Amino acid sequence: MLPVTSHRVAVILIFYVTVSAGTEETYTNYELAPEEEYIEETPRLDYKDPTWCHSPSLANGELTCVSPRGKGYRSTLGTRCEMTCDRGYRLQGKSSVQCLANRRWSGTNYCRRVRCHVLHLNPHGRYSCTHGFVVDSRCDYTCVPGYRIIGLHSRTCLADGSWSGVEPVCTDDDPPKIKCPLSRVKVAEPGALTAKVSWDPPVTTDTADKTLDVILVGQGPDTAFKEGATIVRYKVYDLARNRAGCKFIIRVQVRRCETPKTPLHGYLSCSSDRNNYGAVCEYHCDGGYERKGTLSRVCQFNHSWSGVPAECQQMEFKSDVTTASALLDQFYEKRRLLIVSAPNIVDQEYRLQNIMIQKSACGLDLRHVTVIELLGSPPRERGRIKDKQLQPQVIQGLRQAFRISRSYFSMLLLDEHGADRERFISTVTSDELFAYIDDFLLPEDERDRLELHRDFCE
Ligand SMILES: *[C@@H]1O[C@H](CO)[C@@H](O)[C@H](O)[C@H]1NC(C)=O
Repeated sequence: MLPVTSHRVAVILIFYVTVSAGTEETYTNYELAPEEEYIEETPRLDYKDPTWCHSPSLANGELTCVSPRGKGYRSTLGTRCEMTCDRGYRLQGKSSVQCLANRRWSGTNYCRRVRCHVLHLNPHGRYSCTHGFVVDSRCDYTCVPGYRIIGLHSRTCLADGSWSGVEPVCTDDDPPKIKCPLSRVKVAEPGALTAKVSWDPPVTTDTADKTLDVILVGQGPDTAFKEGATIVRYKVYDLARNRAGCKFIIRVQVRRCETPKTPLHGYLSCSSDRNNYGAVCEYHCDGGYERKGTLSRVCQFNHSWSGVPAECQQMEFKSDVTTASALLDQFYEKRRLLIVSAPNIVDQEYRLQNIMIQKSACGLDLRHVTVIELLGSPPRERGRIKDKQLQPQVIQGLRQAFRISRSYFSMLLLDEHGADRERFISTVTSDELFAYIDDFLLPEDERDRLELHRDFCE
């Protein structure tokens, strides 16, 4: 009994009857499968027939057949064929078939193309494959601009239907770009050594991200920048913490005039840094000297001082005026007066006081004090400022206005407004006198200045 074949064997191995030329062959003793309808005859078994079964073939594969008749026969009864599929194909069905007595092959086989699964699509990447998802197709991954592949750049579909390697990932490793404003030079504001500088924020771009973290390092806009160069830095981070930076320089220039010259017999008081743009210098004169010219000068943008320098000139006064007030007016707000009165020139106290006054002339001048002497009685009465003689009416006027007696020694100290501040009726030392003036008559700024010149008279 030969094995029964299935009626389903149909695709490759077609059952047919061959008729040998000139030979009438009969088929005997063949047991039919129940579904087989049309085979009525059982062929006579012929082990020699080289084409008992039809010639086997396998698309995309190879057959290795062994025939009982020997080499070179592939279709004789009893031939067994081993099937192997080409690379990229997998055999469906049994791995070998045999040519059966019913002239059919014992099974139907075919080679099915092996496919790898469809590759996953990375959110920031793409891939392209040489031959789709079949064996030996190579898929190359790329990332969208701004992203870089981490891992292997390609995967290959292997013969077993799996992909080589692992899926790469696309990582944002492209740092953002940042462009700082241009460096700039700013002139310090008038009367200041700083300048307020403003600028537009830096321009940032990133291939991957829209929102970036921009950080200012250092001094910010609209603040006062000091003289010289200041570096302003910015840092920017994208969402993947890739970093970039930029910097620019702010240079603040302080424009300066040449250092102003201190006037002879005077001094300057200047605002700000003395000679920077916008600084104001005021001229002041030492005691006994008067300013001729402008009170103040301004350091201008073009590095030059406004106006012309003032000078300190020795104070002039007219001694030939005929009233006490005409004399006093000349000293108003300029000088303090020390009026020394004595009954006569040989008065002991006067002589003593006179020596002290002569010795302290410099100190008195520093304190803006002019000495007026009123000596004797009419008709030999004398009044003088240094060696300038005063008119009798003026002497009379002074005595009346300040109630200065002719009969005893006295001294009267008037402030620069002509107000009677202190009266001495006996000699005082220059130290006592100066101490009084310094403590009670000098405004603070004048006292400070006096401090600077304390050694001037020694
Ligand atoms: C500086 O500017 C002032 C006015 O702005 C002008 O009068 C003066 O002549 C200028 N000085 C110089 C040296 O250019």
